[in-house]
Amino acid sequence: MNLTLHIWRQKNANTPGKMVQYDAKDISEHMSFLEMLDVINENLITEGEEPIAFDHDCREGICGMCSLVINGMPHGPEKGTTTCQLHMRKFKDGDNIYIEPFRAKAFPIVKDLVVDRSSFDRIIQSGGYVSVNTGGTQDANAIPISKKEADLAMDAASCIGCGACVAACPNAAAMLFTGAKVSQLAHLPQGQPERMDRAGKMVNQMDAEMFGNCTNAYECSAACPKEIPVRVIAELNRDYIKSSVS
Ligand code: SF4
Ligand code: FES
Repeated sequence: MNLTLHIWRQKNANTPGKMVQYDAKDISEHMSFLEMLDVINENLITEGEEPIAFDHDCREGICGMCSLVINGMPHGPEKGTTTCQLHMRKFKDGDNIYIEPFRAKAFPIVKDLVVDRSSFDRIIQSGGYVSVNTGGTQDANAIPISKKEADLAMDAASCIGCGACVAACPNAAAMLFTGAKVSQLAHLPQGQPERMDRAGKMVNQMDAEMFGNCTNAYECSAACPKEIPVRVIAELNRDYIKSSVS
């Protein structure tokens, strides 16, 4: 198929960016979206031009590195799918495709389609772990955890930290991400001793990074490639108000 791409090009955070048009010719419907961009970049390099910078790593939907707002939707039009798992058969011959970076004050542009998501790392560093000395590792089935609680923890733990929730939110809020990281520990016994203060510290860091707050638009969950439910935001709020550090 032949496509017309409109891609955001920006040298660095201090230089204004703009949309640049590229023709993508003879693209196989079996290619992933990132493989299609690889082809564009190979052509640009052959022509002596600067390739388009974009983030990726695992290319199998687990690392959270790929990003891209495709036709106005973080990770593109396919529900519950990362950009690396999106295939070109979802598009039609002759389509115009608009490709932009995730946009949020807390995700400054590095170059072209690459943004700096280290603000997420700092939210985790502020409290998203278990620091109590829990002793030696017990046999897994020696810790009684109900199936219901285990499932709730596991669902939250499927967050890959991609940032699509922030890119989709009208307030650029990181509540779904932070809620997932709080919830995955709040449903396990090991997460209890630091539970409330973990929420307080992570919310404080979220504010310091200039993320917005939740106004129940639910765009985050709709854009999330792991379909993290908005109940993690309610859980975050409930733990936050009980925190002694808030
Ligand atoms: S909650 Fe979903 S969209 Fe947000 S960082 Fe985690 S996986 Fe990505
Ligand atoms: S490149 Fe790892 S999730 Fe897409």
